[in-house]
Amino acid sequence: MASVPSLAATVHQRVANALSAALPEAAGADPLLRRSDRADFQANGMLALAKRVKGNPRELAGQVVERLPQDDQDDEVIAGIEVSGPGFLNISVTDEAIVRTLAARYADERLGVPRAERPGTTVIDYSQPNVAKEMHVGHLRSTVIGDAITRILEHQGEHVIRRHHIGDWGTQFGMLTQYLIEHPHELDHASDTEGGTEGGEAAIARLNRLYRVSRSRFESDEEFKTRARDRVVKLQSGDEETLALWHKIVDESKIYFQATYDQLDVEIRDADVVGESAYNDALQDVVKDLESSGVAVRSDGALCVFFDDVKGPDGTPTPLIVQKSNGGFGYAATDLAAIRDRVGKLSADTLLYVVDARQSLHFRMVFETARRAGWLPQGTQARQLAFGTVLGKDGRPFKSREGESARLVDLLDAAVERAAVVVREKAQDLSEDEIAALAAQVGIGAVKYADLSTSMSRDYVFDLDRMVSLTGDTSVYLQYAYARIQSILRRAAAGDVRPLAHPHLPLAGAERALGLHLDEFAATVAAVAESYEPHKLAAYLYGLASHLTTFYEHCPVVKEGVEPATSENRLFLCDLTARTLHQGMALLGIRTPSRL
Ligand code: ARG
Repeated sequence: MASVPSLAATVHQRVANALSAALPEAAGADPLLRRSDRADFQANGMLALAKRVKGNPRELAGQVVERLPQDDQDDEVIAGIEVSGPGFLNISVTDEAIVRTLAARYADERLGVPRAERPGTTVIDYSQPNVAKEMHVGHLRSTVIGDAITRILEHQGEHVIRRHHIGDWGTQFGMLTQYLIEHPHELDHASDTEGGTEGGEAAIARLNRLYRVSRSRFESDEEFKTRARDRVVKLQSGDEETLALWHKIVDESKIYFQATYDQLDVEIRDADVVGESAYNDALQDVVKDLESSGVAVRSDGALCVFFDDVKGPDGTPTPLIVQKSNGGFGYAATDLAAIRDRVGKLSADTLLYVVDARQSLHFRMVFETARRAGWLPQGTQARQLAFGTVLGKDGRPFKSREGESARLVDLLDAAVERAAVVVREKAQDLSEDEIAALAAQVGIGAVKYADLSTSMSRDYVFDLDRMVSLTGDTSVYLQYAYARIQSILRRAAAGDVRPLAHPHLPLAGAERALGLHLDEFAATVAAVAESYEPHKLAAYLYGLASHLTTFYEHCPVVKEGVEPATSENRLFLCDLTARTLHQGMALLGIRTPSRL
């Protein structure tokens, strides 16, 4: 179905039409319309245009006004326009236009959000923890941001292919598998009954132990070290026995990852987990092609790619190392092979990498190498969505009390526990099970929202007290706004009052403000999909909940003395707000429980 234009888009179109009628050479020019506190909208594009044609901006603005149909000429959209300042247009719209536009949105299941005109194929690389290791807050960010961006792009109709590039390859697996060969029962399960979070905890505990014991053996026993190194060669050449043990370790890790994803309420599908190992067979070709094309050169035995602008502190160039002098491949080779696969086989036109900003130099060099090698053709964009560091309250990278990097599960547990306190306080007649279910939605939502509501390149402080606060820019505040509307709708329905738009009713100031903010939803989602900036959607939703709060203060919905039509119209605004909150939060991967 055709999308429902916003009121802002309608006004924009009219001003643009009037502008090109007033000044034919300005046809197609942008009148630069934006929301304004002075009037509903302000257009200030006349300033630059008048300058370009050496005219007077106030005069040009005046000519535009003459060509704009207004309310008194039987038009239901524009209520008034005036020229102000050096040549701005202040434009106010009618109450009727606001309600009519919102009613059309209300009738559309996509709430007016259009699909992309020409959807492409995006491969998004996110949530890439490392096998046999704990997940930490960095993996939280990658998972939460990647999940939100995936949802937003898919909602636009983009074909999105997810790639969880887990760290499942490398020399440490020689050590781990060799230890398993010598101690075959090391990873055996005590019981087969464990599942869920417990199963995840047990799995990572086993892996941590395996890691510890094999590491200490590796460091103290030279002969074991030699056997471990030989084992790497066997692993990389596909020796079956070694591969089987390696698989055991990977599968054990996946149990742990999955338990964490379940708790995080993020859907990660096994088929999308394509780790570093998957590119093993392609690495020889990467090397061969880079070397024969001259993109990479041998330097002290290693195969390197050099860049004019990448130098170490002493001024010597820092190369990207594709193959080490001992013949081993590293992280860079795998990423290059992955690019060839994603562009060549998966036909991606956009490659996204949701990865810590501390890996930015790596990606810059990898992308540049791929461009030189012709693996990233023109028209294919590759972009790292680099995120900042999660900090503790002391402003330093988040650490547990023991000084290790904080375990993700511990943080999530703490958030859910904190949320349970908040939910219990507010809960009237909720059972323990209901409280637990809500606490999970509130606690996990709080963690996700805190992450998504700051611009991703910035660091942020992991502060649970602030995250679960009922006031301020938190998911809990948004979830309460949603639940509150649901409760109003339920009470109204019990008294047989239903949401219904009444375009002929005059609107109170708080209703107009809420309505005009609702009008911006579709454009906000489109802009967020374009720029990969979920924090702008979070900011929009927070603004929406704030407008709703003001609206409640001034506009009783169902109450003695309120006209039935006014009640219906206000319920309609409430319901549209609720649906917008729900849709917006869902795009961020956050639940909106209907009772809190
Ligand atoms: N496994 C890496 C880490 O934990 C992140 C992988 C990022 N993705 C990539 N294609 N290099 O730091």
